[in-house]
Amino acid sequence: MSRFCICLLAAVLIALAPALSTRAQTNTSLFLVKPYVQLGNNPAHTNKLEILWFSQKKSGFKLFFREADSTAKSPWKRSEDLSITLQPTSQIKPYYRYSGSIESSAPGREVEYRIDFAKKTLFQKVVTSRKSKEQSYTFALAGDVGAGSFGQKGNTFQIHKLKPDLYLIPGDIAYNRGKVEDYLLRFFPFLNSEIAAANRGAPLLSETITATAIGNHDIALTNQWTGVDFTSYPDALGYYRFWSQPLNGPKRRVNERNTTIIRGDARAQLNFVKAVGERFPRMANYSFDFGNSHWLVIDANPYMDWTDQKMRDWVEKDLRTAKAAWKFVLCHQPGFSIDNNHWVEQRMRLLSQIFEQCGVDIVFSGHAHTYQRSYPLKFTPKEPANTSADGTISGDFILDRDFDGARVTRPRGVLYIVSGAGGASLYRKGILPASETLFNFKFLNQKHSFTFCKVEDDNIELRQIDCDGEEIDRIRITK
Ligand SMILES: [Fe+2]
Repeated sequence: MSRFCICLLAAVLIALAPALSTRAQTNTSLFLVKPYVQLGNNPAHTNKLEILWFSQKKSGFKLFFREADSTAKSPWKRSEDLSITLQPTSQIKPYYRYSGSIESSAPGREVEYRIDFAKKTLFQKVVTSRKSKEQSYTFALAGDVGAGSFGQKGNTFQIHKLKPDLYLIPGDIAYNRGKVEDYLLRFFPFLNSEIAAANRGAPLLSETITATAIGNHDIALTNQWTGVDFTSYPDALGYYRFWSQPLNGPKRRVNERNTTIIRGDARAQLNFVKAVGERFPRMANYSFDFGNSHWLVIDANPYMDWTDQKMRDWVEKDLRTAKAAWKFVLCHQPGFSIDNNHWVEQRMRLLSQIFEQCGVDIVFSGHAHTYQRSYPLKFTPKEPANTSADGTISGDFILDRDFDGARVTRPRGVLYIVSGAGGASLYRKGILPASETLFNFKFLNQKHSFTFCKVEDDNIELRQIDCDGEEIDRIRITK
């Protein structure tokens, strides 16, 4: 056997080792991205979920599912709506996006799914379907994730151990530019690892419904907004290729003054548009119900004009008409942060009054690579409600200093949580002068961490847990 053949055989064996070590993963090498679970563009009250995977094979896969939590398992059903979409790219060989539905007969049931290729089962997992209004649920949340760091892997491992019903990422999903290769190198290998270990990550995405918000690294780090440059970053905006979320937000998400949101190399732009279809740009603003909660996911990037009345009306209508006990907002850039890196990016303060008037309980963000918890607060921007040249928005605060999350648990105002310690380098230094930090109750930046919440009827237990599994904050919130 030639030296080349021996090297090749060794490489194949190393590549297959994790797959061979677990049940049913007989040949995961056919996947460019192994299967994972999405809400899909499904109506609010449905027991349907979407399974997504990516491969350079253009056919041959079949998706099956069955209910898994009864003593006598139901027969396997074949997913009839499997769709295959070519994903042209500039920097890697074209690949295909596979997407198919699975369904349970009732909310909150375990559904087993499997993917076959050439009559062999390649992949088999169990996921719990979306919870109903009557069911309690848990969610885990951390932003600023896909850096390939030890903290990212530790967080993923700890989250997977807690088996949340829902996992949320408030932006900056794959560093450094949110490109296809960033997802393939620094995100999926750890968030959808076959092996669960503190130094490897875990199979979190294949076993947990995941929802995401778009951050500034997800738009190729285009901070001074001139549109994502497809000449410099031809496979940018992986957000729209890899996620499948409700398309129930406004059809236009940018203001009338700035409609150019992609530019540069024409072929790369065409590749992108063909790959993502109607998901771009709509999928950056959407909402969904989960359990007794309503989640509003909004795009807080610099090109968004949240003084635009049409967009404000959409936010207000979405929140007012939501019939849920708890209302949460998920966005990347926080309106209230005391970190030195991003504190001037205060544009999300423009929506504070709508959040207050529509009964939002908690706004979750990332962007600042720390954990921060505000006092419950109300904020009134000074007129006119617009961003100043340096990005700050001044206004009047009313802080609920009685709330302590233990003895006094009913907040008078909105809680703002920054959970941005998901994996990227922590912000080690720099807290603003005291006059700028009055709204902040807690600031932790020593270790990577994530938020874990148990949501019951009128009661939430919110914990912050570090990448070694230690609890670093805990509050209870009641109605
Ligand atoms: Fe960010």
